[in-house]
Amino acid sequence: MVVIQLFLLTLISGVHPQTFKEIHRQAGDIVALYCEVKHGDAKILWKRDDNQSVILYNNMSSDEQRQIGVVVHKQSLVILSASVNHQGNYTCSVGNSSRWSRFRLTVHTHFREHDNITCYTSALCQLHCPTTNVPATSFSNRSITWPKGPEYGNFPSVEKEHSGIYTCTWYFPYHGQTYNVTFEVRLDVQEFDTPRTADILKPRETTFEVELGSPKVIDCEALTWSCTNSVLYWLSNFDFVDEDRPSRVSFNQTCPSDKNSKEIKRTAPLVFTKVLEEDLSKNFTCVLQHDGQTLSYVTITLTQKARPSHTSLAVCTVVLTVLSAVMVFICVKFKVDISLFLRDTLGCHSSTSDGKSYDAFLMCYESDTDGGFNAHDRKMLESVLEERFGYSLCLYDRDVLPGRAVAQVVLDCIEQSRAVVLVPTSPDPGPGSGLLSAIHEALVERQTRLVFINTETPKVSRSGSIPKALQLLSESGNHVAWKGMSSMPPSSSFWKQLRYHLPAPQRAPKIQLLLQTIQDVSSK
Ligand SMILES: *[C@@H]1O[C@H](CO)[C@@H](O)[C@H](O)[C@H]1NC(C)=O
Ligand SMILES: *[C@@H]1O[C@H](CO)[C@@H](O)[C@H](O)[C@H]1NC(C)=O
Ligand SMILES: *[C@@H]1O[C@H](CO)[C@@H](O)[C@H](O)[C@H]1NC(C)=O
Ligand SMILES: *[C@@H]1O[C@H](CO)[C@@H](O)[C@H](O)[C@H]1NC(C)=O
Ligand SMILES: *[C@@H]1O[C@H](CO)[C@@H](O)[C@H](O)[C@H]1NC(C)=O
Ligand SMILES: *[C@@H]1O[C@H](CO)[C@@H](O)[C@H](O)[C@H]1NC(C)=O
Ligand SMILES: *[C@@H]1O[C@H](CO)[C@@H](O)[C@H](O)[C@H]1NC(C)=O
Ligand SMILES: *[C@@H]1O[C@H](CO)[C@@H](O)[C@H](O)[C@H]1NC(C)=O
Ligand SMILES: *[C@@H]1O[C@H](CO)[C@@H](O)[C@H](O)[C@H]1NC(C)=O
Repeated sequence: MVVIQLFLLTLISGVHPQTFKEIHRQAGDIVALYCEVKHGDAKILWKRDDNQSVILYNNMSSDEQRQIGVVVHKQSLVILSASVNHQGNYTCSVGNSSRWSRFRLTVHTHFREHDNITCYTSALCQLHCPTTNVPATSFSNRSITWPKGPEYGNFPSVEKEHSGIYTCTWYFPYHGQTYNVTFEVRLDVQEFDTPRTADILKPRETTFEVELGSPKVIDCEALTWSCTNSVLYWLSNFDFVDEDRPSRVSFNQTCPSDKNSKEIKRTAPLVFTKVLEEDLSKNFTCVLQHDGQTLSYVTITLTQKARPSHTSLAVCTVVLTVLSAVMVFICVKFKVDISLFLRDTLGCHSSTSDGKSYDAFLMCYESDTDGGFNAHDRKMLESVLEERFGYSLCLYDRDVLPGRAVAQVVLDCIEQSRAVVLVPTSPDPGPGSGLLSAIHEALVERQTRLVFINTETPKVSRSGSIPKALQLLSESGNHVAWKGMSSMPPSSSFWKQLRYHLPAPQRAPKIQLLLQTIQDVSSK
């Protein structure tokens, strides 16, 4: 029962409730207590307890903290220069919860923490300066020296006589002072004893594209035969990358099982919470070690994701500009054909009924040239519009009931039509022409859609003779040029222009209706 309770307590707090984490340091060294209690967003509280007092570090200002040489940094409590006064018991906890973890710090006059390392002859040998209770990289721009060892602690090809004790010192510049901690590494170089297969499988490539300011994960995967005896870790320019810490750059080592087997894939993804410019100038090395011996390593660098160059951008811009100019040209040049095509094939025209019974009213005006429409031309115009293109026309001599005032009758006709087509006529134009001045105001007032058919060459000499009303109307309407014989075929530009300026016919062309009627009749 007690065991179960203890187990539950361990689960809840993450730490065995009764144990202290023992930390030993030489006086003068920097030391960091790292709180492993998972905290989410809650604040970690640090306190030192002894019989006399309880010192809470969190409610001190950072200046006060520096004065007593104890700084709270993220999840750790950093004692800048350990002295016997700092000796004692420390507790970290999360908010007012029951999760906490305890440390016992002992400060010695002479003490060197050490690591043992075994390397094999003629192979790369990397001495690790221990990082136990050393502040995270985010605390300070730390650096390392190996006073009697090789540069960066790196023997490219180690030999038996390299065996011995090496010291390494971490330096932490912090607020104008440099703090340090020294460790020992005891190197034992042995004859190389061929190991079983072990190699780094990933990464295969040596450069990775990154975006500054974004997160990035680079996988490192290695084949090994033991989880306990092997390690996979990352170096950044020969400095160790933090493991499992909430640093900007860290790695997370996992091994599927602890049992030795023939082949185990262990992984250590390198995680950037945010890639910075400084990372671009660094070498990142994933190292696989077995019993302290480096079996394999892969070095990668980061490059900034290529942006489209200025020249290709310029080319794109030019191409796009030319393309849009061509599109605009095509649209302007062929707007008539395009809109007629859309109208005819896709039926793209407004189908809303405006209550008018005619599409257009044909009205004559006296042409000032000889090229105007004669009676035969007018008949042709009417029949092509009605029979071929399906417009319904209001014609003066057909649809206007006699016996009323001419002007009123014509206005009624205009009222019932969606557009007015003004047709130049050469011989006496008939009743429409003289009316123009009479109905001019009504046309302007109702904003009637006007389409002017012009003869090809208006005679400038006689321009004075154009009635003023006609001239005013001519300015507000659309113009379509009639070129005599060449405008006759229904495929000519005259008809296209005319149809373009007229609204789409509201009912199907008569030919289609006729065909439909024939079909209906024959099917019965
Ligand atoms: C506090 O002091 C008493 C004696 O004065 C001692 O018995 C006890 O163990 C001390 N407790 C701690 C936590 O140091
Ligand atoms: C720090 O916290 C303790 C206990 O909660 C309190 O007595 C003390 O006044 C606080 N000090 C400051 C500077 O807030
Ligand atoms: C730290 O805690 C241990 C165990 O509770 C106790 O024996 C020791 O006296 C404490 N040390 C200090 C400096 O309070
Ligand atoms: C813990 O603190 C929260 C607010 O931060 C409060 O709501 C809650 O009651 C506290 N729990 C205890 C046991 O004091
Ligand atoms: C290193 O090796 C020595 C002698 O073999 C041993 O006494 C010591 O405990 C080892 N240290 C570690 C940290 O394993
Ligand atoms: C690291 O050094 C740079 C300048 O070299 C400085 O801007 C930055 O604040 C330093 N970082 C830390 C954590 O001291
Ligand atoms: C470490 O710093 C202390 C002062 O805090 C200094 O006396 C000592 O020489 C430094 N050690 C090294 C190896 O630089
Ligand atoms: C490490 O990886 C494991 C499994 O992928 C995940 O559960 C854990 O949260 C990771 N730890 C960190 C610090 O990223
Ligand atoms: C990174 O590695 C390349 C070749 O591996 C080397 O030339 C370069 O000096 C290294 N850069 C740093 C900062 O270590």
